[in-house]
Amino acid sequence: MELLNGKDLAQNIESQIIAELKKQDLKPSLAVILVGDDPASRAYVSMKQKACERVGFVSLKFELPTTCTQKEILSLTQKLNNDANVHGILVQLPLPKHIDTSKILESIAPQKDVDGFHPYNVGCLHVGLECFCPATPLGVMNLLAYYKIEVRGKNVAIIGASNIVGKPLAALMLNAGATPSLCHILTHDISIYTREADIVCVGVGKPNLLNAEMIKQGAIVIDIGINRLENGRLVGDVDFEPVSKKCSFITPVPGGVGPMTIATLLQNTLKAAKNFHK
Ligand code: GUN
Repeated sequence: MELLNGKDLAQNIESQIIAELKKQDLKPSLAVILVGDDPASRAYVSMKQKACERVGFVSLKFELPTTCTQKEILSLTQKLNNDANVHGILVQLPLPKHIDTSKILESIAPQKDVDGFHPYNVGCLHVGLECFCPATPLGVMNLLAYYKIEVRGKNVAIIGASNIVGKPLAALMLNAGATPSLCHILTHDISIYTREADIVCVGVGKPNLLNAEMIKQGAIVIDIGINRLENGRLVGDVDFEPVSKKCSFITPVPGGVGPMTIATLLQNTLKAAKNFHK
């Protein structure tokens, strides 16, 4: 078994971005909107901001209280859309229940939508056009490509059909020539799909969801889950010890997909800045 080291690749990507910025007069900027005080969202936003600072991007944070109105968020996205100094806009999810998330995501200019959540970018991804792709699934594809793991012609089981991870990952896999099975909460027996899969990707937020009996010998396992146990330990969705004995490659948690998400967001922001100056 070999570990797919997302931490090292993410560091390589950051170094490449720093080197690229040295060669040109470009200062990408990312505006992050954080609504409310969810500790996990706050932690993610802080990681994204720190990454921006490490590579020399401008990082702007806009914090709104849980009680803010939809109108207030919309007027902020409007303002950022019209600000020529802002290249990328990201609204950290989830938003409070009284906010219509789709309306907010649709208000972001598609060319600044570095999360790839605007329906325009979602549509482009599905028909295979150039677009911004969500950072977590694109990070998974980049990690597989870096390790020269061919996805073309492979059976891929994806567990979790969210708009952020599962659905765009299925589209990326399909575009790359794989045969994805997208399993979700109503799937009766996910092991039917995982046992047949050359690559299993799981991201639902349930520790030990994927166990060794559910995969075939030599499968490639991508753990997109992040769970904090009561003892404070961070784990993914995979029962790591037994699964790692049976698979050929596996992502660790932490140090696998998580750092790739951040690095890919940086790449998307760089792309938005370059497109703006084209
Ligand atoms: N919440 C969980 N994952 C993400 C993500 O990739 N982007 C945003 N904006 N919010 C998230």
